[in-house]
Amino acid sequence: MARVVTGIQPTGNIHIGNYIGAIRPAVNLQDSHECFLMIADLHGLNGGLEPEVLHQNILDIAKAYLACGLDPENVTLFRQSEVVEHAELSVMLAPSTSHGLLERAHAYKDAMAKGKPVNAGLFYYPVLMAADILLYKAESVPVGSDQQQHLEMTREIAERFNHTYGETFVLPQALLMGGDEHLLKGLDGRKMSKSYDNVIGIFDSPDEIRKQVAKIVTDSKLPEEPKDPDTDTIFSIYRHVALPAEVEDLAIRYRGGGIGYKEAKDLLAEALITFLVPIREKKQELDANEDAIHSILTRGAEKARVVASQTVKEVKQKTGLLP
Ligand code: AMP
Ligand code: TRP
Repeated sequence: MARVVTGIQPTGNIHIGNYIGAIRPAVNLQDSHECFLMIADLHGLNGGLEPEVLHQNILDIAKAYLACGLDPENVTLFRQSEVVEHAELSVMLAPSTSHGLLERAHAYKDAMAKGKPVNAGLFYYPVLMAADILLYKAESVPVGSDQQQHLEMTREIAERFNHTYGETFVLPQALLMGGDEHLLKGLDGRKMSKSYDNVIGIFDSPDEIRKQVAKIVTDSKLPEEPKDPDTDTIFSIYRHVALPAEVEDLAIRYRGGGIGYKEAKDLLAEALITFLVPIREKKQELDANEDAIHSILTRGAEKARVVASQTVKEVKQKTGLLP
């Protein structure tokens, strides 16, 4: 089985856009690939969150993947900070990383352009991410298209190291997940994103879902007027969560006229509730047994270290840190 490695930021308030674009595609890889899935909690430090919030986010992201069907027997799910080799390798890769490369990074450049305070953690991010990937010598890294630049940088760092010390690292490729056609719209019609406050959370209760769906912005067409399912936000979410026959049915009613947005919202809310109930129930089970999550993560870290420590040993030998 081909190996893949990926990392996820420990963000809170996980929404159905994250589910469609990142969680489901990752869960779908678990039967056909050997997967290393890390919660990038060291990267999470850059966000300057309150410690309790970061800690809760780490647990929540683990719960989200487990509630959405990730099988920890099948996938090595772990926290980056529990595998000390990530920090270790990143320091050993820093001499193979040029200052110019780091200055080109989008995240860093954006922060500078917006006059935001930039700490060394943000500037160093691509080196740590390169270590995350190169430790596992995987050819493919499932990520969203926003991460392509980080993958290019990882290859550049690996090439420089290989050139200096001899073939050591596999040059990884992005395995693009989601894609624009999967980009889910939020309540206001823009991309669903926590920063726009336009999300439906995957753990939201039925009442919260109904409340959020009621906020969806529509045009002012009357019920009898024909509507375009391809531009309407309600429909664009519905098609991801309803059954195929239901989606087809609603598209016909949109085009023919005869359904108002109020009714369409009711249909969407019920489809979302049906879709999310099993996820929410699994999450409640996990909430009641957080010890089990900690032991899954610890076991994952042990498995990851078997591979990671081997790579670090090899790097130490190649660089002269070990005989
Ligand atoms: P973020 O927390 O915004 O960094 O998102 C984490 C991952 O979820 C991203 O890499 C995307 O792949 C995915 N994602 C976020 N928002 C959406 C969205 N509206 N539609 C589809 N995928 C999304
Ligand atoms: N930078 C990635 C993101 O923001 C998260 C991440 C950290 C990652 N380490 C990684 C992704 C290693 C893939 C491989 O989404």
